[in-house]
Amino acid sequence: MSDQAFVTLATNDLYGKGALVLGTSLRKHKTTRQLVVLVSPQVSNNMRAVLGRVFDEIILVNVLDSKDSAHLAMIKRPELGVTFTKLHCWALTHYSKCIFMDADTLVLCNIDELFQREELSAAPDPGWPDCFNSGVFVYRPSIETYNELLQFSTTKGSFDGGDQGLLNSFFSNWATADINKHLPFIYNLSSVAIYSYLPAFKQYGADAKVVHFLGNVKPWNYTYDPTTRCVMRDSQDHSSVVHPEFLNMWWDAFTTSVSPLLIEHGISKEASPGKQEEEKLSEAVSQLSFTPPPPVASSEERRKKWEQGQADYMGVDSFENIQKKLDAYLN
Ligand code: UDP
Ligand code: GLC
Ligand code: MN
Repeated sequence: MSDQAFVTLATNDLYGKGALVLGTSLRKHKTTRQLVVLVSPQVSNNMRAVLGRVFDEIILVNVLDSKDSAHLAMIKRPELGVTFTKLHCWALTHYSKCIFMDADTLVLCNIDELFQREELSAAPDPGWPDCFNSGVFVYRPSIETYNELLQFSTTKGSFDGGDQGLLNSFFSNWATADINKHLPFIYNLSSVAIYSYLPAFKQYGADAKVVHFLGNVKPWNYTYDPTTRCVMRDSQDHSSVVHPEFLNMWWDAFTTSVSPLLIEHGISKEASPGKQEEEKLSEAVSQLSFTPPPPVASSEERRKKWEQGQADYMGVDSFENIQKKLDAYLN
């Protein structure tokens, strides 16, 4: 099966971590296909070395950016212009068929059966089900299609500023032409669908094969506590409040399979970025020499300093003290 591959993309080291979790999850579930990651020059050499431990091929590509801030503003994701870089996947003509997967996806079981599908097969987008979500799709590399897509990107652009808008306009009969090209939703279960249709998730969620952490908060943005094996919950974030299981699975995969590789290659010392920050802070504190605290300023002096923008944020003017004062007034 050396002429078929799973393909992903990372234009920076953070998405590189995502790609590593995806790659190790495909390996864990014993795919018989090749693993390919497209990287841009911004990905560090260390990260490329680690990617090389998991992926069969690392292909350097130049960043393609729609620079379409107007459309990207509508999806509130100004950073996604670079997803045009995905289009390079059509140039991998040494493979006859591929499955592209976003670097924020996680595989929960073997999904090699997807190679029986034809271009362009994908699952519906949870936001607009007549569009497919471009986080997971089956395609056939072809220089002809590649050129047509590049041409299309410059002449027609994308209605969302990213690859998904472009690909949906290009493969415009996906919604109606052939039901076999509609992948079941369990091949691209996005975390947003969990709280937008909870009963369906309760009914079918256990069959999920691929989880997609779609949205601007990615698993690597959370802090993970390896002792409880849970991500720290943030009350603002629905996905972690309703169903943190998938996030925990991502982190579990990260700590067991990816973190040791990152440590080996000197990218990270600790499994959890949060822990690393703590450690850096305590290191910095331990290196500080002791200086006696300054004499307490009079309230007149403090007011002056405050007006000059020199508030004592770490001391008397700390957020905690300001809040206490406000509470006292309000009560
Ligand atoms: N991507 C990347 N660098 C970026 C943004 C995106 O490499 O700065 C790639 C990565 O593979 C990612 C995909 O493009 O998974 C699509 O972006 P994202 O997953 O953030 O979009 P979403 O699925 O949240 O809409
Ligand atoms: C979507 C897809 C993602 C794509 C982005 C921009 O939400 O999940 O893969 O890159 O839109 O088009
Ligand atoms: Mn994604």
